[in-house]
Amino acid sequence: MPVNLKGRSLLTLMDFTPEEIRYLIDLSKDLKSKKRMGIKNNLLAGKNIVLLFDKTSTRTRCAFEVAAFDEGANVTYLTNSQMGKKESLEDTAKVLGRFYDGIEYRGFKQQTVEDLAKYSGVPVWNGLTDVDHPTQVLADLLTIEEHIHKPLNKVKLVFVGDARNNMGYALMYGCAKMGMTYTALAPKELWADKEIMEKAQKVANETGAKIEMADSIEDIKGADVIYTDIWASMGEEDKLLERVKLLTPYKVTMDMMKATDNQDAIFMHCLPSYHDFKTDMAKGTFDNQGLDIREVEDEVFRSSYSKVFDEAENRMHTIKAVMVATL
Ligand code: CP
Ligand code: NVA
Repeated sequence: MPVNLKGRSLLTLMDFTPEEIRYLIDLSKDLKSKKRMGIKNNLLAGKNIVLLFDKTSTRTRCAFEVAAFDEGANVTYLTNSQMGKKESLEDTAKVLGRFYDGIEYRGFKQQTVEDLAKYSGVPVWNGLTDVDHPTQVLADLLTIEEHIHKPLNKVKLVFVGDARNNMGYALMYGCAKMGMTYTALAPKELWADKEIMEKAQKVANETGAKIEMADSIEDIKGADVIYTDIWASMGEEDKLLERVKLLTPYKVTMDMMKATDNQDAIFMHCLPSYHDFKTDMAKGTFDNQGLDIREVEDEVFRSSYSKVFDEAENRMHTIKAVMVATL
């Protein structure tokens, strides 16, 4: 069946069929190779998009902007709107829907992206909430296909860290949809919420995916991808001490990479990452509190296992595909 995503929002990959996700990955590949050849098609000419950020960002903001500029769209970056403060979300959404062809939102509640889509009447793209990060996972699937030479439904991805965070859930959804094996390696306190797992399991039953929680290093054997993320997400900085205690045994190390028993395994990370002490945060918490918040060894991050910068680049190509497909 032909795929038509015009007018659709991307709030979560759970709203998309495997065929629609496949279409977005293939379109990303096509746009990526066109960009490399210097071909631009002005596919978004005359479109106006607004980027609403209630949390900080480097990749997501820049990916949306460069993708829009490449294809001829105009962009407004908005971090200090009235929304929710001096104006209701509903009213702001209705105004933005009159001005813009599409809205990107990054912030806290998933309900906010849902309500923006409901009231604005234009496509809304989720640029990260507390519980999801769908555009990141599209980039991750593209990166996996570029580096692992087997079909996605034969790939085992192990997410190491806080399995209840936005990346843990977003990857679980992406893997469920694409028939992959998703293993979260995490202390039991940070295993995925039961209800969310059941939702993903329902999808997995249809696609042949395998979704599992694990707390033993044994379970990473055969992994094609070791994926991790920071231990305390944006807005959770007060949980850092507790997370360091829980997650230090789950730091991604060279020994962990070797425990995959797969010489073709790759290391992935959505970034930003604490892998050395060259950030105020990692250095400050170490100097002031003696806490090592690094979720991955620098050696792994800089090793040939690591595909993190290919992955970061792919944010732009996949976000471009999302805008081109939905506008
Ligand atoms: N991976 C990601 O979303 O990066 P930013 O927070 O820099 O946008
Ligand atoms: N879990 C991280 C992802 C950043 C892209 C956060 O929410 O801060």
